[in-house]
Amino acid sequence: MSLGEPLERVDGRDKVTGRARYTTEHALPNVAHAALVTSTIAKGRVAAIDTAAGERVRGVLAVMTHTNAPRLPATTGSGPSDRVLHLLQDDVVRCANQPIAVVVAETLEAAHEAAGLVRVRYATEPHDVRLEPRLAEATTPKHAGRPDQPAAHAHGDVERALAEAEVKIEQVYRTPFETHVPMEPHATIAAWDGPARLTLYDATQGIFGCRKRVAGLLGLKPDDVRVVSEYLGGGFGSKGPTWSHVVLAAMAARRVSRPVKLALRRPQTFGPVGFRSRTHQAIALGARRDGTLTAIRHDTIAQTSSFDEFMEPASVASRMLYASPSIATSHKLVRSDIGTPSYMRAPGWAPGTYALEVALDELAVALDMDPLALRLKNYAERDPEKDRPWSSKALRECYRAGAARFDWSQRPRAPRALREGTTLIGWGMATSVYPTHRSKAGARARLQRDGTVLVESGTQDLGTGTYTVMTQVAADALGVSPAQIVFRLGDTSFPETPVSGGSQTAASVGSAVHAAATALRDKLAALTGGRSEPLQSIAARHGEVEATAEAKPDDADKEYGMYAFGAQFAEVRVDAALGQMRVSRLVGVFDIGRALNARTARSQLIGGMVWGLGMALHENTVMDERLGRIVNNNLAEYHVPVNADVPAIEVAWLEGADPHANPLGVKGIGEIGITGTAAAVANAVYHATGRRVRDLPITLDRLL
Ligand code: MOS
Repeated sequence: MSLGEPLERVDGRDKVTGRARYTTEHALPNVAHAALVTSTIAKGRVAAIDTAAGERVRGVLAVMTHTNAPRLPATTGSGPSDRVLHLLQDDVVRCANQPIAVVVAETLEAAHEAAGLVRVRYATEPHDVRLEPRLAEATTPKHAGRPDQPAAHAHGDVERALAEAEVKIEQVYRTPFETHVPMEPHATIAAWDGPARLTLYDATQGIFGCRKRVAGLLGLKPDDVRVVSEYLGGGFGSKGPTWSHVVLAAMAARRVSRPVKLALRRPQTFGPVGFRSRTHQAIALGARRDGTLTAIRHDTIAQTSSFDEFMEPASVASRMLYASPSIATSHKLVRSDIGTPSYMRAPGWAPGTYALEVALDELAVALDMDPLALRLKNYAERDPEKDRPWSSKALRECYRAGAARFDWSQRPRAPRALREGTTLIGWGMATSVYPTHRSKAGARARLQRDGTVLVESGTQDLGTGTYTVMTQVAADALGVSPAQIVFRLGDTSFPETPVSGGSQTAASVGSAVHAAATALRDKLAALTGGRSEPLQSIAARHGEVEATAEAKPDDADKEYGMYAFGAQFAEVRVDAALGQMRVSRLVGVFDIGRALNARTARSQLIGGMVWGLGMALHENTVMDERLGRIVNNNLAEYHVPVNADVPAIEVAWLEGADPHANPLGVKGIGEIGITGTAAAVANAVYHATGRRVRDLPITLDRLL
């Protein structure tokens, strides 16, 4: 089965039979279990911590607190994803749910029982976890979420264009504190081999980043740290950076001279391992009567912690999505007594496309113009941010194909025009967009004696299908069946690869696997004098043959604007009396370059759209502002879509490789699905009800 075809997951059988080992399932002899004690206040000091009762629990091996934890040789890191961690180095409490003690015991039950018996007396200080009352204090961050995205960017004279605009809208859009809640919580097993060699089984999206970070903090050589991540039950960005519990597990293992397993309990994944910050997005759009945009202004204010900086870059989509003679965007941060926010699926682009695409809908209403016609009127033929051509852009075709599938041409212009009995029906649409990223990656391919080819590359599989698509890429390059490929990943003893984030794995690791498999094919061709011959007979004659390759991005990202695009259409049904809402149809058509596997690509896009639906209607991490703590820190009260919320989602993509982005012509599919969805749903709610809700999530109380 060749590249692009819907090969079933090569790891599917192992997953359903339980043979696939997720982090905590690695069975190490003599493993001890750790539990975290986390702070119940948002700001202050640990005045006293009494561990005696915990230590008396049978089976408890150690209780580590700031009073007895080893001093680390380093506490900070220099990488862009190196978060400031809480490693029991002092008595300061900087946010709720901060680790303040680690209990290690013979059993998980003993560890948790003892953790519950640790008594903490706090010296509390006043905290502030709010964003809205403190907008005036916002300051400009170092960058907008990534070092290559400046905090502010502008061209043309936006203020003048807005003043002179024939039609103008100006509104504020707000998105809430959102938490990743991957099915598999964060977890680490740390095992020392002597004082200076460490193995970590870690639920991480970036084994090499984890190795570097942990080695730096513990004063080890990176080569003496091995990190393994064979299977992940989701991550969505939360497992990208290395968080405190990983290092604490290693410290605890050293303390008890045994391997230590530490899994966060679900409430401990709310706050200390990243989340999506609230955003306050002010947007102004100016246009001529015919719908031609003359001004786009998009200013985002988000939250970060008091001790670290992360900017949710929600204004970046406005820099490049539509042609306009003037565009000005900015980002600012308010420091709060909360954990540090971080990357969450389509960082910036998810909340940013929500606000921008609802603003476009509002402008269409002000112009009495079809919302899709307004997008086409302002279609950017070149990248407006950097004034350069696109590597490829088939967004117009996405609009057309999506509109045709959805029957958009039948949409009445006015809101509240579609109904069935007491049910109001609304149709909305929005644009999807996410940048194409690529980083340096390595891979090796070895013909084995049994005639199979073992392909190894560091990387990680979040559940997205990396095992499967890399098997296909290797098979395709070698001209053999996927059944002849054994692909392994998730081990720092394999060639180095980047974090599985930014939708870059197919582009980065795929290019490396393609290069390694092609190099092996060339070697084999030299051995056979170019004659076609079964791998088994080559192996029988020559034994093992190996090729290694590293694939580096070229300068295409400087010459071209490289983005995946899409168009999403939503239908909602709203009970006119009760405000109850259901999304009844979602259609997404995407320009993603080449799809490596139709089955896993479809799943990725659907997964993103389901999350976008949840962003529109459900997700909200609720803070008790008086306590500075998260109230709904569990899957019962943190609402995400369930089957009853999700309609049959129709997904399609346009065939065609991007000619510039990378050798495989892929544009990335992990994140684009969530962009635009919330706006399409919100615009449909407006069309159904005539009520414009600008703050997410749209709950029924806001419609009554
Ligand atoms: Mo993604 S938020 O870049 O893992």
